[in-house]
Amino acid sequence: GLNISSLLKETGLVTLDTGFMNTASTTSSITYIDGAAGILRYRGYPIDQLAKGSNFLETAYLLIYGELPDAETLEAVERRIKRHTILHEDFKAFFTAFPSNGHPMAILQAGIAALATYYQHTLDPHDDYQRELSTVLLMAKVPTMIAAIAKRATGLPLLYPDASKGYVEDFIRMTFGLPYQRHDIDPAVVKALDMLLILHADHEQNCSTSTVRMVGSAHANVYASVAAGVGALSGPLHGGANEAVLEMLNKIQADGGDASEFMRKVKNKEGGVRLMGFGHRVYKNYDPRAAIVKEAAHDVLAKLGKNDELLEIAMGLEEIALKDDYFIERKLYPNVDFYTGLIYKAMGFPTQMFTPLFALGRLPGWIAQYREMIADPTTKIGRPRQVYTGAPERQYVPLDQR
Ligand code: ACO
Repeated sequence: GLNISSLLKETGLVTLDTGFMNTASTTSSITYIDGAAGILRYRGYPIDQLAKGSNFLETAYLLIYGELPDAETLEAVERRIKRHTILHEDFKAFFTAFPSNGHPMAILQAGIAALATYYQHTLDPHDDYQRELSTVLLMAKVPTMIAAIAKRATGLPLLYPDASKGYVEDFIRMTFGLPYQRHDIDPAVVKALDMLLILHADHEQNCSTSTVRMVGSAHANVYASVAAGVGALSGPLHGGANEAVLEMLNKIQADGGDASEFMRKVKNKEGGVRLMGFGHRVYKNYDPRAAIVKEAAHDVLAKLGKNDELLEIAMGLEEIALKDDYFIERKLYPNVDFYTGLIYKAMGFPTQMFTPLFALGRLPGWIAQYREMIADPTTKIGRPRQVYTGAPERQYVPLDQR
């Protein structure tokens, strides 16, 4: 194929494409998006089929290894992950070192980076054993870590992982359960969260995934690379949008629930306010994930017997947007996170835990992309060029002469 970068290298020219609007940073065989048509596939499988039929661990396997596992393989993978879900005891002290109101994403980023200090025998991605073990360790320990972070915020005691429970079920148990107290987990909640994790599992070269690849391109270990991805994900223009959506809905409700007044502000760009959970760099059509989440939001709220006025407000905003020229001209539709927060809230997650849930979902995608990059012999260190706009050469003036 045509390689523009090697052509340009010979001429000394560079392309300037801020925000990578049209520049591919890599080839990849993991995820396919057709933004105009609203299509998303993992390894060729349409997202709606996976959301309906698969489960999070199976989808994680598919993303990381390229094929759906057979029953025996999936069971073996699950068993192996279960053997590693416990966090080192010293992590308890690690969590208490942060202010209890510190944002969970900041603690998660630090916690994932810190795994490199506990599992120093798994840092070389070019070694088959180390690479496979680090994949298992991340999948196993991140849910335990997120549950511990949630507990730390409330001051409630931590629960240890229970290998007899399902992956998502145990995450919910560790997050909400208490020692010596029975905690019945609604299978509908487990199923809904599992499905949301599938929807977030990969999205090709988004901001956090490109960050994981960028850091990994320097041959940084997978923990350092994924931790960097968590940092990118925390931004409100990316994963932080799910939290920002709920804050926006709360504010509209507190201001009297008038969606049209809020939309007027958005369209006039008053104070740079945006309709959070709307718009996407790649989708110029309805985000296929948002359609699935919207349906699930109705289902889950109905099943849990929760009647949330915020869902009405969200639907009102969408209804206005779909008929309004501002949004039509700019092709702005709900993205995956417009409706997720309402489900997480109904499940009982505090708002600050929404983006860590996104991180848990995106984890297999980050791992898969890191591994694909490491396995590709043509990978080079990521090192963009720039177009310099600063001062021309000038002479240094000593301090006493300025
Ligand atoms: N509300 C109002 N206007 C918007 C919105 C929005 N949510 N999104 C884009 N626009 C407008 C911009 O103001 C701009 O208008 P202009 O041409 O008059 O200047 C036009 O649409 C194009 O927007 P850009 O910012 O250039 O689009 P870009 O591709 O750079 O940004 C992004 C995409 C960051 C997702 C943007 O749509 C946004 O900020 N959305 C809200 C935050 C959000 O929901 N993020 C989650 C993204 S999905 C994810 O990470 C899961």
